[in-house]
Amino acid sequence: MAKYVIKKSNKLVPSDAMKKIAHVKNKNIYKQAAKNPIKFWEKLATEGLDWEKKWTKAYEQKLPYFKWFKGGKINFSKNCLDRHLENKSDKVAITWVPEPTKEKTIKLTYKELHEKVCKFANVLKKHKIKKGDVVSIYLPMIPEAIIAMLACTRIGAIHSVVFSAFSADALKARIQDGKAKILITADGYYRRGEKEDLLTKARRAVKSTTVNKVIIVPRLRKKIPTGRKFLNFNKELESAEPNCEPTIVNSEDTMFILYTSGTTGKPKGVVHDTGGYATQAYWTAKWNFNLHDDDVMWCTADVGWVTGHTYAFYGPLLNGATTLIYEGSPDFPNPGRWWKIIQDNKVTVFYTAPTAIRMFQKFDPKYIKKHNLKSLRILGSVGEPIDEDAWKWYFKTIGGSRCPIIDTWWQTETGGTLINALPGIGPFVPKVSGQPFPGTNLIIVDEKGKQIKKKNVVGNLVQVPPLAPGMLHGVWKNPKKYKDTYWSRFKKYYDTSDGAFLTNGGLIRITGRTDDVMKVAGHRMTTAELENAITDHQAINETAVVPIPHEVKGEVPVAFVILKHKIKDQEKFEKEIKKLTDDKIGPTARPAKIYIVEALPKTRSGKIMRRILKALLIDEEPKGLSTLLNPKSVDAIKKIIKTKK
Ligand code: WTA
Repeated sequence: MAKYVIKKSNKLVPSDAMKKIAHVKNKNIYKQAAKNPIKFWEKLATEGLDWEKKWTKAYEQKLPYFKWFKGGKINFSKNCLDRHLENKSDKVAITWVPEPTKEKTIKLTYKELHEKVCKFANVLKKHKIKKGDVVSIYLPMIPEAIIAMLACTRIGAIHSVVFSAFSADALKARIQDGKAKILITADGYYRRGEKEDLLTKARRAVKSTTVNKVIIVPRLRKKIPTGRKFLNFNKELESAEPNCEPTIVNSEDTMFILYTSGTTGKPKGVVHDTGGYATQAYWTAKWNFNLHDDDVMWCTADVGWVTGHTYAFYGPLLNGATTLIYEGSPDFPNPGRWWKIIQDNKVTVFYTAPTAIRMFQKFDPKYIKKHNLKSLRILGSVGEPIDEDAWKWYFKTIGGSRCPIIDTWWQTETGGTLINALPGIGPFVPKVSGQPFPGTNLIIVDEKGKQIKKKNVVGNLVQVPPLAPGMLHGVWKNPKKYKDTYWSRFKKYYDTSDGAFLTNGGLIRITGRTDDVMKVAGHRMTTAELENAITDHQAINETAVVPIPHEVKGEVPVAFVILKHKIKDQEKFEKEIKKLTDDKIGPTARPAKIYIVEALPKTRSGKIMRRILKALLIDEEPKGLSTLLNPKSVDAIKKIIKTKK
C-alpha cells in the first residue's frame, strides 16, 4: 500500500488504496445515520446478524434504562460460528501463539472451534448450568478461554471473566458478587519463561463460595487434583457429545458481566446484553478495522479486559475473520517477539495500547527492522490517550507510513468502540480520537450539562440517547450504583467520566478521566481500591493514593500513608504494602513510591485533597490551599518528597 505523508497540519486523509478497500468511504454516513439512529442500527442489526425472530420494537427507553431490539430472538455463538460453517468451515478462526518457542502455534478452524464449543456447552449442561446462570472464567490467553466463553453463550449462561493476573481475593470478590456456580480455570500459564501458578489462587478463591465445580485446563500439564469438585477440562471435553442445539435467548437477555473499577473501592459488574452488544461488536470491528475475508486481526489485549472480549474474540469471529491471540509478554524472550508474530502470521490489523507502544520505542530498533511488517494494513490504539511522539513512532516504525492509526475511545461500559476515525474516511490526527461512530452521539458539556460547542474548551464527555446498542444495561444486582455512577450528574446523558474537547477541526480529543480512576499500563483501577488494600496494613492509619504520569505506563500510583505507630524496618514495610496490593488486587496495582507522612491535606469537611498531593509530586505549585483544614501539612509533605527523590 502507498505511503502517507505527514503534512504540517498533522492531518492525514485516507490513501486511494485504502479508499478502494474500505467498507465505508462516504462521510455522509454520519449525517444519514444521525437523521434516524434507531433506523440506522435496525438496518445494521438486520444485515449483520442472524436472528431467530425479528424484534417487535427496535428501541425503547425509560432512562436510565433502555432496550435494543425488544422481542428479538438470537443466539450469540451461532452468529460467531454456525453461520460461517457453510463457506468458511476450514478457515482459521483462531491462531494461538504459545510462549515457549518449542511449542507449536495452534490454529483452530471454524469447524474445529464450533465442535469444541458445542462439546463444552454440553459439559456445562451436564454440570447443571442453564440459561441465566453465572459462570466465572479465570483463564490466561489460551484458546480454552474463547471455547468456554462461547460455550456459555451457546446455552444462554452469563460469563464473568476475571483477569488472570488478578489475585485470589479479587477473584473471590467477583465470584461472590456474581454468585457463580462454576469456575473455569487453568493450572497456570507461561510468562517470561516462568510457570505462573493459577490453580492455587483459584482454589483459595472458591472456598466458601457458591462455586461447586472447578474445571481446570491442564495448560502446564501439572497433576490436577480431580474429584467431585475439581475436574479436568480436557477429560470433560473428550467425553462430551459434539452436538449442542443453541439456546435461543431474547436480545435483551444478559450475555456477560465484566467487573471494572468505579469511584468507590468495590469493583462493579458491568452488565451487557446479547443482541445490542453483538450489533455493535460486529459493525465496529468491521468498519474500524475494515475486516475482509483475508484479514488476520491481532488485538493484543487480555481477555480479562473488555478489549479482549470485543476485539480479540467476538468482533473478529462475528465477522468470520481470523483472530490471533498469544501467551506471554511483549518483550520475552526478546523485544522482537511481537514483530515476529506479525511476520510469521501475516497479521493485517494490529490493535494495541499506547503503553506498549511507548515501551517498544525504548528498545533497540534492530528488533523491528529484522522483521517484515508489510502485511499490516491498519493499526489501532486503545485504552489511554496516545501522545504525538508515540503516535508518529507507531505510524512510521511499525506501520511503515502505510497504515492509518485508528485511535479508538471507549470503555468497559460501552461494549464496543464509540469515538474514532474510520479508515476510509479519516482524518487520522495524532492525539485526536475523531468523531462518534455513525448512529451514536457524544457531546461535551459543562458542569451544568450545557453543551460546549466552542473549540478547545475542556468539558465532560457525555453520550446523548438513543444510546449505542452495545451500552451497559446496569450494574450487576446494584441499580443504585448504575444510576449514581452514570446518570446522576447529567440526568439526560450517560456520563463517561472522561474529559474532552473539540479540536479546531471539530473532532474529539480525550483529556482523561475526571474521577478517581487511573489507567496504569492501560489497566483500569481506582485510588479507592488501592487505598482500601494498603490501609489493611496493621501499622497504617490512613492512606491516600494518587496517580502520577509515567513515561511508559501512562500513569503509576503513589501512596501516602499515616502510621499508627513507628515502624522499624522501612524496606520490609514497603514490601509488605506491595504484597497487600498484590494479594488484594494484582501486581499491576503496586505503588511506585510510598511516602510516610504525618498528615494529609484535607478540606474542612474531611475530604483528602489528592489534587494537591499530585501537584506536589509533579513539582507544580498547589492551588486552593486556603480552603484546607491543615495547610501546614503541605509544606511537610513537600519536604518528605524532596528527601526521598
Ligand atoms: C480511557 C478500555 C484516550 C478513558 C476500552 C476511558 C482512552 C477508559 C481511550 C476506559 C483512547 C480508552 N484515548 N483515553 N483512545 N480509550 N480510554 O473500561 O479514560 O478499561 O474512560 O476500557 O480508558 O477504560 P476501560
